[in-house]
Amino acid sequence: MFRIIEKKQLNNAVTSLKFEAPFIAKKVKPGQFVIVRIDEKGERIPLTVSDYDAKAGTVTLVIQAIGYTTKKLVSLNVGDSICDLVGPLGLPTEFGTPKKAIIIGGGVGCAIAYPQAKALFNSGADVTVIAGFRSRDIVILEEEMKAVSNSLYITTDDGTYGRKGLVTEVLSELLERDSYDLVIAIGPVPMMKFVSLTTKPYGVKTLVSLNPIMIDGTGMCGGCRVTVGGETKFACVDGPDFDGHLVDFDELSRRNSFYRDEEEHKCRLGVTENG
Ligand SMILES: Cc1cc2nc3c(=O)[nH]c(=O)nc-3n(C[C@H](O)[C@H](O)[C@H](O)COP(=O)(O)OP(=O)(O)OC[C@H]3O[C@@H](n4cnc5c(N)ncnc54)[C@H](O)[C@@H]3O)c2cc1C
Ligand code: FES
Repeated sequence: MFRIIEKKQLNNAVTSLKFEAPFIAKKVKPGQFVIVRIDEKGERIPLTVSDYDAKAGTVTLVIQAIGYTTKKLVSLNVGDSICDLVGPLGLPTEFGTPKKAIIIGGGVGCAIAYPQAKALFNSGADVTVIAGFRSRDIVILEEEMKAVSNSLYITTDDGTYGRKGLVTEVLSELLERDSYDLVIAIGPVPMMKFVSLTTKPYGVKTLVSLNPIMIDGTGMCGGCRVTVGGETKFACVDGPDFDGHLVDFDELSRRNSFYRDEEEHKCRLGVTENG
């Protein structure tokens, strides 16, 4: 069993849960994820390790409550336990040795981008973070991102905080003014697609973290199949990071919406069951 030792509400829909998980905390690296199961009858869902402390033996997951399992998970409290936390899974991010990097997070993707920014900043790289949100009330991890970057840009779609507009507008300006060795983009599929299209003419290495539907997380079921550079890859064992210039984002969007009706149905049933 894995006990929750800290719970923070980051915004209305996003919660941070810190778990006691000493073996994972010792091994995990930025870019890796865990598969979580709340109880023996629960479904398995993948969540990125947003932060970890090897000494304290803890891992932090940042969860956006969007469906049945994520809503159930964030309803747990300090002292509660879940039955499975399996990992670390996936390959750690291969940063290379960039001198100047831009890390882009979209919405809850900022929680997944945070360990990347932290690792690069601690390695001495010059790190610019662009964090994009729909609106001011859902901005998360601003102070944390500030602490691990040389410059931080916040954008909101409606202009209620930071700069009005999309992350790609700030990105284009930065790429026009200066040269960078690495861009990492983590967030909604359309955001990662348009970041990759923006960086391509500049020839900047661009990594994206893909979020296909995963079941076992160990390369056995084929559920997380993605096409990268015309080849089939399994995001759980070959990724989740891939070269953004080679990913077939349109196919990923199509596959991710495959079970939408069933997911909505289960979520409605879950809400009724739980009162
Ligand atoms: C490698 C990876 C890392 C992720 N990290 C995070 C994270 O750090 N924080 C976070 O909030 N979310 C993360 N996600 C997404 C998270 O797994 C889904 O939001 C979650 O599975 C939704 O389950 P649900 O029952 O609450 O919602 P549902 O209503 O069942 O699904 C809502 C949407 O979530 C996605 N989804 C559903 N089941 C899965 C599944 N088994 N695998 C992947 N996606 C699924 C689909 O796009 C679906 O349309 C990650 C996904 C992947 C693949
Ligand atoms: S989740 Fe089953 S092969 Fe990747």
